[in-house]
Amino acid sequence: MNDKKTVVVGITGGIAAYKVADLVSRLYKNGFNVQVVMTEHATRFISPLTLRTLSNNPVMVDMFDESGNHKVQHIGVAEEADIVVVAPATANIIARMACGMADDLLSTIILATRAPVLIAPSMNTNMYDKQVTQDNIRTLKNRGVMVIDPSEGALACGVTGRGRLPEIETIYNRTIEVLEGRHRDLTGKTILITAGATQEDIDPVRYITNRSTGKMGYALASEASRRGARVLLVSGPTALTDPEGVEIWRVRSAREMNDICQELFDQVDVVIGAAAVADYRPLDYSELKLKKSDDDLVIRLARNPDILEGLGQRKKHQILVGFAAETNDLVQNARQKLNKKNLDLLVANDLTAEGAGFAVDTNIVTLLFKDGTEKNLPCLSKSEVAGIILDTVLEIQGS
Ligand code: CTP
Repeated sequence: MNDKKTVVVGITGGIAAYKVADLVSRLYKNGFNVQVVMTEHATRFISPLTLRTLSNNPVMVDMFDESGNHKVQHIGVAEEADIVVVAPATANIIARMACGMADDLLSTIILATRAPVLIAPSMNTNMYDKQVTQDNIRTLKNRGVMVIDPSEGALACGVTGRGRLPEIETIYNRTIEVLEGRHRDLTGKTILITAGATQEDIDPVRYITNRSTGKMGYALASEASRRGARVLLVSGPTALTDPEGVEIWRVRSAREMNDICQELFDQVDVVIGAAAVADYRPLDYSELKLKKSDDDLVIRLARNPDILEGLGQRKKHQILVGFAAETNDLVQNARQKLNKKNLDLLVANDLTAEGAGFAVDTNIVTLLFKDGTEKNLPCLSKSEVAGIILDTVLEIQGS
């Protein structure tokens, strides 16, 4: 695909640095001009000689090395780059990038380049979760830096959590996507996404809800927005921060969510129903706080509208995607939902599988298609699942 595009691979000092040898090797074997730039710390984790051999190019570390073939080394490399990929990106380089610092060769190249910058954060979970790191990552995203979320798993420091370098395959594929301009492949599309749980009031202080956190819907919204879509997010209450670049409606009840979705439907190309909408609400809302008595309390529930089903009945050109959370007979139950709601794709979630469902960052899903076929996906981060769902929507639209 490439006419010798230049990929600058920035390596910083994290234990995952050794894995990046594979990325460098793959890029070189696929015909790219690979320029490895390492921080001093990175050279403690993997030898520049290894990377020089795999990239077939001298590795750059020193800001003042005069052996290169550019007049001004850091500017020459920054200009030559078609993309700069930083993997692993430590908390330190992320902080330095967020401040606009240029205190070594890699940070200076990043500051000087006009090429897209893709980073793969990887570090100890506590460092990753620290507010300052999260703020820095958000700052970078707002400035257009592309970020591949770390995966979850056992880390070198002995703890288990978020912070693992994503698979090299994922980093490689994202690099190619950016180089081919495919990362903006949803430009021109309007996508309506519902997310989170709804809350159904019993009285002014009490309500019925469920355990959805909104993570899957928010991952879909940020992924779709990153890929160029106009995203209309209708969200129940969540503790999550607003995804960048999306238009957001905050609602509480299923009926509020339904009203907004009905109103927006005509202008959208795709609907993804990731919200865990309460199927029932208390039949009688009490304006006054209910008082307890010695007797049991019976609350009668009324049926809420099924948002997706209603949209399915109005469907014209739109692609409709639903989710199903099941604890038994996954495929059979999910297929019934697909048919009943007139959906094009159903993402079925086995709640009994470890790593799937509510409040975790990963998901294990099966995709069910209208033509009766299905596809099982392995345990992936919610943003990886989001990416695959959006790829699938594009395939359905193109078919
Ligand atoms: N959904 C909706 N409106 C509702 C209920 C669900 O739009 N009132 C959507 C959800 O966003 C999700 C899918 O429909 O995409 C889930 O279907 P549903 O039949 O509600 O699944 P469950 O709630 O798991 O159903 P059940 O409890 O009957 O298994």
